[in-house]
Amino acid sequence: MKFFLDTANVREIEQAVEMGVLDGVTTNPTLLAKEGRDPVQVLKEICKLVDGPVNAEVISTDSEGMLKEAHRWADLSDNIVVKIPMTREGMKAVRRLSEEDIPTNVTLVFSPSQALIAAKAGADYVSPFVGRLDDRSEDGMELVSKIIQIFDNYGVETEVIVASIRHPMHVVEAALMGADIATMPYAVLEKLFEHPLTDVGLVQFLKDWEKLQR
Ligand code: G3P
Repeated sequence: MKFFLDTANVREIEQAVEMGVLDGVTTNPTLLAKEGRDPVQVLKEICKLVDGPVNAEVISTDSEGMLKEAHRWADLSDNIVVKIPMTREGMKAVRRLSEEDIPTNVTLVFSPSQALIAAKAGADYVSPFVGRLDDRSEDGMELVSKIIQIFDNYGVETEVIVASIRHPMHVVEAALMGADIATMPYAVLEKLFEHPLTDVGLVQFLKDWEKLQR
């Protein structure tokens, strides 16, 4: 399974690149707004850092506006993937972009039928939002499992990005289900490395080695 960071923070992306575990980045308007800088400049910097897809989202709600924005994002760099919201206008834009070989990620997916529609429109990726479903007492990971089953049934090549991840178990469950990608906040990526027994074990190894040096 590929690991994407769900962030527009360049420092976090640099750190994940250094750790050698980063396969791509997803941003959205909220994440870019958090940075408080020119979003075009931020995306340019991210595209240079990342050897893999970098997702930039459109904010227009009509397909013509989405297409204009998509072309502007795609002109930034070869590794841009354009994020399009799961709406009727969005799917018109996805169809056109797929004919132009501009990769798309359909975002704000909350049901299996939406994922199927996005795939039929020609999306390269779909992003089910698991955390936001869990927040409403619905089962986000069950949605992912259904989407994977539907795509497997028909040999659909659209990749499943598990998004709106809140904790490491979302990542582990996504891997168990065979999801293609998990996109996570930097804090969740850090937690994937951790186990208290690793820390205790390391302290003990170092203590024992120290004894040998006396
Ligand atoms: O970028 C899309 C998605 O991952 C957003 O997550 O935490 O705002 O629900 P969140």
